[in-house]
Amino acid sequence: MTALYAVFGNPVAHSRSPAIHAAFAAATGENLCYEARLAPLDGFAAALAEFVAAGGRGANVTVPFKEEAFRLCQRLSERAARAGAVNTLTFADGEIAGDNTDGAGLARDIGENLAVPLAGRRILLLGAGGAARGVIAPLLAERPASLYIANRSADKARQLAAAFADLAAGSIEGGSFGELAGKSFDLVINATSASLTGETLPLPAGLFAEKALAYDMMYGKGETPFLQLAREQGAARRADGLGMLVEQAAEAFFIWRGQRPATAPVLAQLRAELRQLAA
Ligand code: ATR
Repeated sequence: MTALYAVFGNPVAHSRSPAIHAAFAAATGENLCYEARLAPLDGFAAALAEFVAAGGRGANVTVPFKEEAFRLCQRLSERAARAGAVNTLTFADGEIAGDNTDGAGLARDIGENLAVPLAGRRILLLGAGGAARGVIAPLLAERPASLYIANRSADKARQLAAAFADLAAGSIEGGSFGELAGKSFDLVINATSASLTGETLPLPAGLFAEKALAYDMMYGKGETPFLQLAREQGAARRADGLGMLVEQAAEAFFIWRGQRPATAPVLAQLRAELRQLAA
């Protein structure tokens, strides 16, 4: 019997998840159907309940429902509990189990696809909202030398650093963008939503160490505003979040189906589609 999965969001029409999971299913021979479902802003819980009643086996959750999904779960993985947000739900035995595969997807994209080891590196995480919070524990699990969280509202960054201090083998600190002056990093990750409003982050010059990687969790048709800034400031390597998108999906697929699909062909396909849109 075909197993039913979906991604819930608002908006959700643009989601690449149905195409990604269809490709994974084809490659692994799994018999599943994966749809995009638009939930009303005040109707996520009801939409989810309806999906479960219709036989749904699992779901991904995207903006703006990840925190609400977290609250609806009867069981949480350690990384989801830490993130305070859930992007992967599994329905079994009358229970909703929640996980968060975003951080693992990010770490895998950087560590495997881009072949940049995180151990011993100096990492700067820009942003202190849900997207940033979701990736901190998996980043710390790679044992970087240091993690600095910088945010427009510096207090939020300091609070996040304190909340994750017990997981850090190296140093962990939070502060403002201004406090970054004079510091440099091997990896700078943008987890702010500044580019959605077309704004550029006020980052001091000199942030990027030699051979540093600039990573934007966002992606788009062309170069993102953060990656443009990183290029202008001399970041040697730059990557957008398309690989993270595919890797977080692969991790969800593994949770549901017990199989780890190859991600490289799917990532190449999505990249080609984006290039076509940009041309
Ligand atoms: P998300 O789920 O995408 O993380 P969020 O929780 O609303 O969304 O967090 C958005 C993040 O982007 C925050 O770190 C926010 O900074 P503040 O905490 O100071 O609001 C950051 N952000 C959004 N627009 C920004 C801008 N124009 N400049 C700098 N940071 C911005």
